[in-house]
Amino acid sequence: MYQVGKEEIDAISEVLLTGKLFRYGIGTACATFEERYAKFLGVKYAMLTSSGTTALHAALVSQGIGPGDEVLVPACTYIATAIAVLAAGAIPVVVDIDESVTLSPTAVEAAIGPHTRAIIPVHMWGMVCDMDALMAIAKKHNLKVIEDACQCVGGAYKGRKAGSIGNAGAFSFNFYKNMTAGEGGCAVTSEDVAADKIACMIDCCRFYWEGRDKSIPLFAAPGARASEIEGAILNVQLDRITPMVEEMRKQKIQIINALKGTILTQAKANSLEYECGTHAAFQLPDAETTLKFVELYPCTIAGKTGRHVYTEWDPIFDKQGAPHPAINPYNLPENQVCRMDLKKDSCQKSLDILNRTVLIGTHPNRKQDETNAMIERILAAAKAIS
Ligand SMILES: Cc1ncc(COP(=O)(O)O)c(C=O)c1O
Repeated sequence: MYQVGKEEIDAISEVLLTGKLFRYGIGTACATFEERYAKFLGVKYAMLTSSGTTALHAALVSQGIGPGDEVLVPACTYIATAIAVLAAGAIPVVVDIDESVTLSPTAVEAAIGPHTRAIIPVHMWGMVCDMDALMAIAKKHNLKVIEDACQCVGGAYKGRKAGSIGNAGAFSFNFYKNMTAGEGGCAVTSEDVAADKIACMIDCCRFYWEGRDKSIPLFAAPGARASEIEGAILNVQLDRITPMVEEMRKQKIQIINALKGTILTQAKANSLEYECGTHAAFQLPDAETTLKFVELYPCTIAGKTGRHVYTEWDPIFDKQGAPHPAINPYNLPENQVCRMDLKKDSCQKSLDILNRTVLIGTHPNRKQDETNAMIERILAAAKAIS
């Protein structure tokens, strides 16, 4: 969460005063946001959900992913990426990242097996994946691409908005994201059939309010409807996102330029001029030096972020993929052909990178002299450990 204030209060008040709290057939805030956000991203459909996890689940289902399918996910992402795969009935296969802290295209290509059906590139900490390489691999192997852009709201890859490049994309609007409604999410696609399926995942009864002219047969789905309050807040947040991301990116580039030639090596950037800029990532020579650096300049070590590292995904290691054993994807007969042999050291290369990667946060409200002072402190810490 970066900014929230009077405009959000006014937008919520408006919804409350009209009493139009339900989106279908009554309110307009969600529909307005969806139309604006689709345009912002350059996609045909943007559909609000209750969270990033439900958006990912819906996006996977929209691509026909289900039992018998393996989906490649990075070793560094929030556990929800892997959980969404299980929610669709499929099996997540964890793949190495590279120095960009995002999916390694080389590791992806090496990991493709006979049952692999999809890849989830995750744009972590505002940094975008190598989408050209990943899309080329997906095309070659006939795989679906579902972008997890939950941590990259407002960011882009070579001019194309994150989340708009694959077959479908998912965003989170939880408290910690670039745009927030406290909680919330959005699934996006430009494919008509996929959009119908996402709509059904979000509310399989919406057609009763909106008219049932859709082509796909309805199926029972858990539901993830957004409220008009979510829509109202997000309309305000969308007005702010572009200058906010530009400011963070500017700070990030200043930090990167200032640290050139020091012991901190800039993490590989796949599209520095377009990504979010929420974090500047740097690699140190080894884990021990990294610990020394953060003692002198307190900041986050990517490998110590717990839930963002695959080794911390207990339900995945315990093969508890659902609340009931009979619907647990790990038990389903269709999935017995899938690879389920994840070990704590399966992605050792990722662990090595993550344990020597530091994340330095930017902030849209940070003043120039504050950034300058911050850089001085980082430079002093870098010099002290060199
Ligand atoms: C990379 C990533 N994917 C998915 C999610 C899930 O989003 P939510 O918390 O809105 O369900 C998050 C949220 O933190 C995330 O960071």
